[in-house]
Amino acid sequence: METKIAIVKDLIKNIGYVKEAANIIRNGGTVAFPTETVYGLGADGLNEEAVKKIFKAKGRPQDNPLILHVSSKDISSLVKEVPPVAQKLIDKFWPGPLTVILNKKDIVPDVTSANLKSVGIRMPEDQIALKLIELANTPIAAPSANISGSPSPTDVERCIEDLTGKVDYILGGKRSRVGVESTIVDCTVDPPIVLRPGGITLEKLKEVYNGIELDAGLMKKSTENFKPKAPGMKYKHYAPKAKVIIVSGNREKTIDKINEMVHNYRGLGKKVGVLSSKENSMRYKEGKVISLGSILDLEEVAHNLFESLRSFDDIGVDVIIAEAFEEKGVGIAIMNRLKKAAGYDIIEN
Ligand code: TXA
Ligand code: MG
Repeated sequence: METKIAIVKDLIKNIGYVKEAANIIRNGGTVAFPTETVYGLGADGLNEEAVKKIFKAKGRPQDNPLILHVSSKDISSLVKEVPPVAQKLIDKFWPGPLTVILNKKDIVPDVTSANLKSVGIRMPEDQIALKLIELANTPIAAPSANISGSPSPTDVERCIEDLTGKVDYILGGKRSRVGVESTIVDCTVDPPIVLRPGGITLEKLKEVYNGIELDAGLMKKSTENFKPKAPGMKYKHYAPKAKVIIVSGNREKTIDKINEMVHNYRGLGKKVGVLSSKENSMRYKEGKVISLGSILDLEEVAHNLFESLRSFDDIGVDVIIAEAFEEKGVGIAIMNRLKKAAGYDIIEN
């Protein structure tokens, strides 16, 4: 299939591209588009045939539900009710990187929600995304715009790499500000529960309602007893082609351990990458080192995380050794994604 690629540099000057992409959505086609979290792969979320095209393009398992993207806070046509806490979260964090799970009305097709009675909804803050949804005049179902299993794309080049020939249109914009996917809060239960940590931190959510907690299965490897509640969180996800290993603990010991591991892997003829904090990046003697950002600026680390994993794939490293980051603020989302990429392979010092 032919994919049209258009980059929006200036929303007013390039509005024609957004209109073109919106027409494609209205006619049941697929469009990759920017959001502040990661790029999305969108289709008309109320059109069953259109939604099926998303699953096909990504190679996504049918049991993994999609998020509907809306351009207004009024979601009464899509869900049965908005409980007071959900309304407070919407008022405070929309537009922005927060997805709320609510009980859906029948207008939302079962393919979109993967046969669940609930549906995830989010109003993105990205201006191109908002305009696209508004002009398409329908909620846009959109997972991250990567091939299923690989790290989510945070810029248009990565969408082009993954999706050319598989979607109708790729609408480019800025690099994604947040860099990890939205925080998902299940508001069908009381108290609401975080199914996926993301751009809106647990601390911020607790300011609205102190009873909100993380899903207990989130930061661990899923087992029979501990299954994450968001269907998508059970897959080995966010994974680059290389093997990922996390090293955590005391700073000096971590640096020594990583240096030793890099040396040993290189001795075995492996190409090794190190995902480092800015503070430690000059301390690694061998291998290709990428600095994600300062330990004092976890937003910067999140912003760079997926792109760094993908750039290691570009240069074909066999092993990526990553420093652990503190699990607070957006660090919870960073470590959730890193642990999944590593298949929970963590060395503690
Ligand atoms: O930031 C984001 O949320 C990005 C951008 C494009 O908006 N989208 C995104 O979509 O990350 P996706 O499909 O890659 O991840 C959606 C996650 C999956 O883990 C899925 O299982 C979960 O949301 N999810 C969706 N609907 C759900 C529901 N009704 N109940 C529980 N989990 C749900
Ligand atoms: Mg995804």
